[in-house]
Amino acid sequence: MDSRILEEIKRRALEDSVPIIEDDGLDFMVQFIENQHIQRILEIGTAVGYSSICFCNVSEDVTVLSIEKDEDRYRQAVENIRAMNLEDRITVVNGDAREYETEEMFDMIFLDGPKAHNAELMARYEKNLRNGGFFAVDDVYFHGYVDNPAPIRTRRMRAMVRKMARFQDELMNDPRYETTYIRTGDGILIARKRSDTDEQG
Ligand SMILES: C[S@@+](CC[C@H](N)C(=O)[O-])C[C@H]1O[C@@H](n2cnc3c(N)ncnc32)[C@H](O)[C@@H]1O
Repeated sequence: MDSRILEEIKRRALEDSVPIIEDDGLDFMVQFIENQHIQRILEIGTAVGYSSICFCNVSEDVTVLSIEKDEDRYRQAVENIRAMNLEDRITVVNGDAREYETEEMFDMIFLDGPKAHNAELMARYEKNLRNGGFFAVDDVYFHGYVDNPAPIRTRRMRAMVRKMARFQDELMNDPRYETTYIRTGDGILIARKRSDTDEQG
């Protein structure tokens, strides 16, 4: 993989204020994908393709289907993926993940799109996650606001952070998933879908 092109994709994203995964969070995800031998990934929120490209860097066996709503970012992602010669392994869909439908099964679903809709997205895509597979949810710490909402000034933001906190509580207590909070980057939740043969509890 051409690391100079990848660095340029990252530099340009940061310069254009495109939100991309933080370095620590990415290091964790890359290690996680490698350790768990994850191959087929669904990503919600492509932005300009940076995380998808980095995930594919783990192994030749990794392939990604990624959904991005914003047309300009979608175009930029397609361009970046082509520049990295990964068009055979990363497919980007320009659409709304809250409406998209697929029958495909995935080893991991990376939720990095509309933060206030994580619960809805999880409900929508849980049928596409194989037993023993993982939801990975980025930005759950949300700059510390989820733990400490006091400094939030706008009502809209307060409502969103409340929704994120409720989602995290519900997921932590959902017996169908074994959920771990990873304190890295801006916080990542890893929820493993239990299979029927797992012990409950
Ligand atoms: C945090 S960025 C994704 C960053 C990317 N995963 C990375 O680390 O390189 C979130 C993206 O989700 C997109 N998004 C927001 N709502 C969406 C929706 N309903 N469907 C698909 N994409 C959405 C935004 O346009 C934005 O580009």
